[in-house]
Amino acid sequence: MELKTVDLAVEQHGEGIPLVLLHGFPLNRRIWHPIVPLLEKKSRLILPDLRGFGDSPQEVEEFSMRLLAADVLQLLDRLNIEKAVIAGHSMGGYVALEFAHAYPHRLKGLALVASQADADSPERRQARLITAREVRSRGIRYIAEGMPSKLSADAAIQTQLSQMISACSVPVVVAALKAMADRRDANPWLPEIQVPVLAITGGEDQLVPVEKAYSLIKLVNKGWVIEIPEAGHMPMMESPQKTADALFQLVCAANGC
Ligand code: MLT
Repeated sequence: MELKTVDLAVEQHGEGIPLVLLHGFPLNRRIWHPIVPLLEKKSRLILPDLRGFGDSPQEVEEFSMRLLAADVLQLLDRLNIEKAVIAGHSMGGYVALEFAHAYPHRLKGLALVASQADADSPERRQARLITAREVRSRGIRYIAEGMPSKLSADAAIQTQLSQMISACSVPVVVAALKAMADRRDANPWLPEIQVPVLAITGGEDQLVPVEKAYSLIKLVNKGWVIEIPEAGHMPMMESPQKTADALFQLVCAANGC
């Protein structure tokens, strides 16, 4: 299978162990900005926009979590990075899990932030396909207005998220929804992951409940959960210090501090 990768737009800060931060759906690299000042003196932060989002190419005729993982590998090659710690938020976590499966030799550590290893249930899949249909007929406003309150209870964060969602195109959102609906169950390869795995979960997350973090960590060789009770689905924006500290714990576990 030939995977046609694109050159992702990327922002970098600091130096040290490379830590790649993958954003969730339908957002962009800016979700990580609150933690940049907290980590850039300790690690080399690499913030790409995933295909279709932010400033990255809008090529979405093909779109899958596996292809998005190949885009991330191509980025590491372009930056001459042999191994990195990869942290994926929600959909970015689905991409990070595909990366761990396909390119284990390029991974130093894995963080799943408000994410999960499970595939969609039939009901969740159906709901996504309905959302895709609604976005096609009503436009981006449908999710730009409806989604932020599910992501965070904080009004200022909701406003920022709504702006990020509004900047997305309809074809990208539809492609990403279908790709998430079609994604594989990652549980079977969790026991094969040889690097440290951290699951960060928000106690108030309405989209990915905390149990998902605990169930995936049970299956890995070396891993732990950090629960942030007051956070919802966006811990890096809602509790940046705790999220940054958690990610630094992983960098240390992966590399020794
Ligand atoms: C995300 O935040 O990336 C998505 O909400 C994930 C999902 O819908 O499964």
